[in-house]
Amino acid sequence: MTSKGLNKGQSKAVDYTSGPLLILAGPGSGKTLTIAEKVVKLIKDGTAPERTLALTFSEKAAGEMQERIEKQIGTDSGITVSTFHSFCNDLIRDFSLHLGINHNVKLIPKEHAYVWGMNNIDSFGLEYIEIPTHPYDLISSMLEGVSQFHDHLITPSELQDHVTHRLTNEPDLHESVIDRLQMLSDLTKFYEHYQQYKKDNNFIDFDDMINIACNLLKDNEIVRNQVRDRYDYILVDEFQDTNYAQLFLIHLIADGDNLTCVADDDQCIYRFRGAYLSNITQLQDYYNSLEKIPLEINYRSTSQIVEVSQQLIRNNPERQVKDLVSHNGDGDKVMVVKTPDEINEADWVADEIKKLVTEGKLEPNDIYVLTRKRADGQKFNDALKSRMIPVEYVGSLQLTSYPIIQEALAYICVVSDPFNNGISFAKIFAREGVTEHNLQKINLLARKLSRKYKLAGDGIYLALCDHFDEIDITQKSLVNTILGRVQHLLDFKKNHLPSDTVKYLLMEDTDLYRSQMQDDDTNSRKNIHLLNSLVKMVKDLELVDGGSNFDTAMEYVDLVFGIDVADGESSEENTVKVMTIHQSKGKEAKAVFVCDMAARHLPLQHMKKTFTVPSQLAKGVQRDEIEGILHMEEERRLAYVAMTRAREHLYLVFPDKYSGNKRSVKPSAFLDQIEYLSNPQIEYIETTASTVTAGPDLKSPLEVKKDEFQRLVSIYSRQGQVKEAMEALVVLAQLREVETHGNLATFDLKNLLRVNPKEPKELEDLIDNRVPPLVDLDMRFSASKIKEYIDCPLRFKYNSILNIPTPQMSFFQVGTSVHSVYEQMSKLKMQGESIDMKLANKTLDDSWDGSVFSSDTQEKQEHGKMKEMIEFWFELEKECKDETISVEEWFELEIDGHSFGGFIDRIDQTPDGEYVVIDYKTGKTTTPKKKLKEDVQIALYCLAVKEKYGKLPVQAGHLYVNPNVQELRLVDVVEEEVEAVVGRIKETVNSIMDEDFEVKDKPNCYWCNYGGICSWVNGK
Ligand SMILES: Nc1ncnc2c1ncn2[C@@H]1O[C@H](COP(=O)(O)OP(=O)(O)OP(=O)(O)O)[C@@H](O)[C@H]1O
Ligand code: SF4
Ligand SMILES: [Mg+2]
Repeated sequence: MTSKGLNKGQSKAVDYTSGPLLILAGPGSGKTLTIAEKVVKLIKDGTAPERTLALTFSEKAAGEMQERIEKQIGTDSGITVSTFHSFCNDLIRDFSLHLGINHNVKLIPKEHAYVWGMNNIDSFGLEYIEIPTHPYDLISSMLEGVSQFHDHLITPSELQDHVTHRLTNEPDLHESVIDRLQMLSDLTKFYEHYQQYKKDNNFIDFDDMINIACNLLKDNEIVRNQVRDRYDYILVDEFQDTNYAQLFLIHLIADGDNLTCVADDDQCIYRFRGAYLSNITQLQDYYNSLEKIPLEINYRSTSQIVEVSQQLIRNNPERQVKDLVSHNGDGDKVMVVKTPDEINEADWVADEIKKLVTEGKLEPNDIYVLTRKRADGQKFNDALKSRMIPVEYVGSLQLTSYPIIQEALAYICVVSDPFNNGISFAKIFAREGVTEHNLQKINLLARKLSRKYKLAGDGIYLALCDHFDEIDITQKSLVNTILGRVQHLLDFKKNHLPSDTVKYLLMEDTDLYRSQMQDDDTNSRKNIHLLNSLVKMVKDLELVDGGSNFDTAMEYVDLVFGIDVADGESSEENTVKVMTIHQSKGKEAKAVFVCDMAARHLPLQHMKKTFTVPSQLAKGVQRDEIEGILHMEEERRLAYVAMTRAREHLYLVFPDKYSGNKRSVKPSAFLDQIEYLSNPQIEYIETTASTVTAGPDLKSPLEVKKDEFQRLVSIYSRQGQVKEAMEALVVLAQLREVETHGNLATFDLKNLLRVNPKEPKELEDLIDNRVPPLVDLDMRFSASKIKEYIDCPLRFKYNSILNIPTPQMSFFQVGTSVHSVYEQMSKLKMQGESIDMKLANKTLDDSWDGSVFSSDTQEKQEHGKMKEMIEFWFELEKECKDETISVEEWFELEIDGHSFGGFIDRIDQTPDGEYVVIDYKTGKTTTPKKKLKEDVQIALYCLAVKEKYGKLPVQAGHLYVNPNVQELRLVDVVEEEVEAVVGRIKETVNSIMDEDFEVKDKPNCYWCNYGGICSWVNGK
């Protein structure tokens, strides 16, 4: 009957068709197999394939099941295995007339929804939610909030009624509850606008699909009966992860006798998408005659794996207790491995995998490396690549991570706003071969012009168009050609659709498409595919708000293309799969490494969501338990899912420490729960750093090859064998490609050879050893420059040496305005004038520039905050016994022959004649007192005071004025401590003068504007 002999329970489940059935069983017990076999049996017994509906949780799982079934009944049978979404989508199209929906209703692209949200933030009428400078995260959490209400089939008006009712009828609500309700009230407004926008523009999203289908089936009896009549039998896999809306849908289409669901409550891992475990109880409520069949033999894993994972899951309360015994014998012990830190962890895992593969025990595709967070997988991916083991980092696709897209985006950004895109200009110039010295000269002139004419933009375009003759550069004709192309595109965009302009840009104006077409290899085909996706995304964006203006459509282009394509699915290729635990659901592999099993990584730290469905509104059976406990139970289920993917070898790995943390991290609480130190089914080992550190003879083959070719390049070059040197260089580049990408699929030889020989003048300079330094020998230093270098030498180079302009940020506006008000108030006070809030507010309004804010709502909110900052300042002034003697005082210092300058916000004098230095801080971040003593800015201010007033101040520090912090934090000034900081400053200056811009410690790139052109980010 089947390719595999079914056991008793499985056969019973396959044969049972006389009523609703729930197969409730543990992992690896053959639930998915049983569903597939049941479909086959139904068809063989006479049910028409198209009258069988099998539902699974992902496209990939659906494809696999379909394949499994077709193997037995043939590929042209007409059987369709669907996901809930594709089933509903088809239904909506079939019944579009009944729904009053256009038959061509489109799925709203994720990036479209984000851009629409950001563009329209002022129109939602948000009253309580704080609008950040980058509203992207806010829109993201609001869309996620809306999705949760969809999962419970709650409409905006139901939500608003609930909020209004509670706020008006419950006078004693706690402040935090009022806050939450007010946030929900704002969410309702967003929710309503979003639904309306989609309706008006003929869009739906994934949640709508389920909701619309549910409402149609609920409200229209004729349609319901028609749909019910279509199917003789309905089967649902992974039922534990369906949400309320999906369960309701099943209830509407399955009449009761013709339904089989399979579930494992211990594997419910999508609570954040509304799966609440209670669906199993709810199913029982819907169908009184629900039959339950357990499956108790695990065919996947060895018994040690089954037993250790069972020991873990037993810690969860209120679960269905299930018996599960392995069919596969004892097998190896479960390995628990502790490594000194996370780098050693990745190395150890990669070395172990290498051993398993080279000894011929396993193929790469027999192995999974699983982490809770996607980002934790990166280091394993890198470590495997560097050992030349084929690996796939599942689901990390980001359009902007591809060089070809970055190049295209640079042009797009310049064409959408040539006045404010210094970074994109820099990228284009670099691509076309303009040298850093020439780039520096263009940027310097642009800066001069922008200051002279007080330009709104960065001055680059003006410098190129109107002051080209004044720029003293060597590659004038090249720069002129680039400028000509940009100007041509600016003309073109005026009377063409954005997507047409982009097509023109990619195909005609630049060689982006052309160069790929000529190459015609795997890499170029992939690049063409990427460029096509880019054009499609622009097409999607041009539909936002029905607008067809290039600049509007492109406003968020960078951000939108950076959206992570989540939940990617793994390929069939023979590669090790590095993926998240969520992505491993339903799958199995011979060896599984569950990594980063450390506190805060697995279980992941509990983060409160911005919006949650109030328990009073939640549909279905709810468990009354506090959120933190529910979170921990779900994390335990995730660990259980991860462990139960393993067939023969299970490794649970954790580092003792994460770099950047001084202290050790605790092993995961889940490891304690399986008693990893004393469990006879577990072998525990601790690795030492020396066993994995690459010493001279522990180098990977890749590193050995790289060394060899580096040596060859150098020997050939020295001997004048230019051709041989070139060939060796190409091999070296290929080895680097293997190191970064794991293979040569994307290696582009033509691109590598597209070099830009130095122009004669530069060669002359070289011959005479006259190449000018990039760093100005008379450079004036400041505290912020030194800090910038310490934070990231490369950022310093881009900003302070090459002067590549970045967009103005609205938080600078907050800082400047508040500083200016404090300055003027203090000055008036020092002159004996009277000051008050009214005057301060007027001063604020006079210096106000609203144009830098992302929305009117944000501007209003920031303005309100600044008023609070000023009020706080007045309160402090009242209490302050010291006298302010100077504000915004300019100072100049000389350290080791280098000049330093800056403004000191405020110097006070105590009644005893001592000095106190205060620096205003408007942001939310504070500096601990210990760090203040090491602070470059504070040390320079102290030196400056000593130089001008004859002695060091007694105290120095920050005045935090942001409404979230509000504190005066001063430290006592100690001469030796100031000198220690000055010592560090001197070292930094020396490195700068030596033009050492190499990134040594991992910088914080989150707020950096230079990510798009950064050689460290892109080459790492
Ligand atoms: N009766 C059987 N004889 C032999 N192998 C079986 C039998 N039943 C299931 N298997 C095998 O056991 C493995 C697990 O089966 P399956 O994926 O269907 O389990 P599952 O219960 O759906 O697991 P999960 O809960 O992880 O989704 C598969 O490799 C499957 O082929
Ligand atoms: S992106 Fe990161 S590495 Fe690059 S310049 Fe910015 S901070 Fe430095
Ligand atoms: Mg399964």
